[in-house]
Amino acid sequence: MSENKKKRILSGIQPSGVPHIGNFFGMMRQALELQEKGDAYLFIADLHSLTVNPKPQELRERIDRLALDFLACGLDPEKTAFFRQSDINGICELTWILNCITNMGLLERAHSYKDKIAKGFVPNNGLFSYPVLMASDILIYKADSVPVGKDQKQHLEITRDLAIRFNQMYGDIFVIPEPIIPETVAVVPGIDGQKMSKSYNNTIELFGNEKQIRKKIMSIPTDSTPMEDPKDPDKCNIYKLYCLFADEIQKEELAAKYRGGNFGYGHAKQALFEAYMDFFAPMRKRREELEKDPGYIQSILKKGAEKANAIAAETLEEVRKAVGLR
Ligand code: TYM
Repeated sequence: MSENKKKRILSGIQPSGVPHIGNFFGMMRQALELQEKGDAYLFIADLHSLTVNPKPQELRERIDRLALDFLACGLDPEKTAFFRQSDINGICELTWILNCITNMGLLERAHSYKDKIAKGFVPNNGLFSYPVLMASDILIYKADSVPVGKDQKQHLEITRDLAIRFNQMYGDIFVIPEPIIPETVAVVPGIDGQKMSKSYNNTIELFGNEKQIRKKIMSIPTDSTPMEDPKDPDKCNIYKLYCLFADEIQKEELAAKYRGGNFGYGHAKQALFEAYMDFFAPMRKRREELEKDPGYIQSILKKGAEKANAIAAETLEEVRKAVGLR
């Protein structure tokens, strides 16, 4: 790549539930910051979400909601091509071609697949080959960098493996992508301290109703240290969540209150709630505006798909030729 060519940045998110602050701090924020620096692509991974057979109407609503939420967070459609995965011709075809160079063992070792099985989920073939579809998403645009949370790290490794394997077999077509996973937000904890996840029912919604958000935050479990006693902020999940919203000075101030005593977990929860509301206030306002114009959102997705399709078509053409298809 020439020195001054902008890096291509790409990421995706499934419409598998309501977006939460783990999605925001784990991926969305990085992706939005990078749109200022690179050639940015972001998509709604609706094909991936079919692996759990959602109700059609629910899926449609979630896709629209996700589009609204992302735009409210500051996605600039002039800088980022924003689209639905299923609007890209060729994604499923490339997935098939990659499937044919993917060893079963590689997919059998995927943590997210193994976790689902361990939880008693009866897997379908879509779930099993999920990482191959994800590899197609990334490789078809020849993305250089992929901002994701830590839970997607292994999927990125599989993508890299497949790209290297393909290039060795058929010639240098794919770019080997790099994940971008900032350590401080690699795993955002949920209200129970485990990784925040839709499937663990421990999320704080990105654009939740104020009353429900307060209720969620107030329900964060804490230990029984009396109010008067000093507390260790680093052992407290409320503090960890607060740090997501705070700058260094604010973090230090709250930590000092924990250590000083006479500061209860109820006070810490109130501080977290206020930090959440302040942080997202401008985005909530923008969301209210955008919500009034669903046509605008659909037009952005259409324009984004046109841009992404042009690149996808070029890559697919190279791939078809390389593997011997006419
Ligand atoms: P998904 O929809 O589960 O999550 C979207 C993004 O949010 C990150 N994330 C978190 N980060 C930190 N802490 C958390 N608690 C947390 N929860 C979620 C995820 O790591 C992810 O970056 N397979 C992907 C979607 C996808 C994709 C792609 C991503 C499909 N194709 C190509 C990148 C490139 C997924 O299910 O993410």
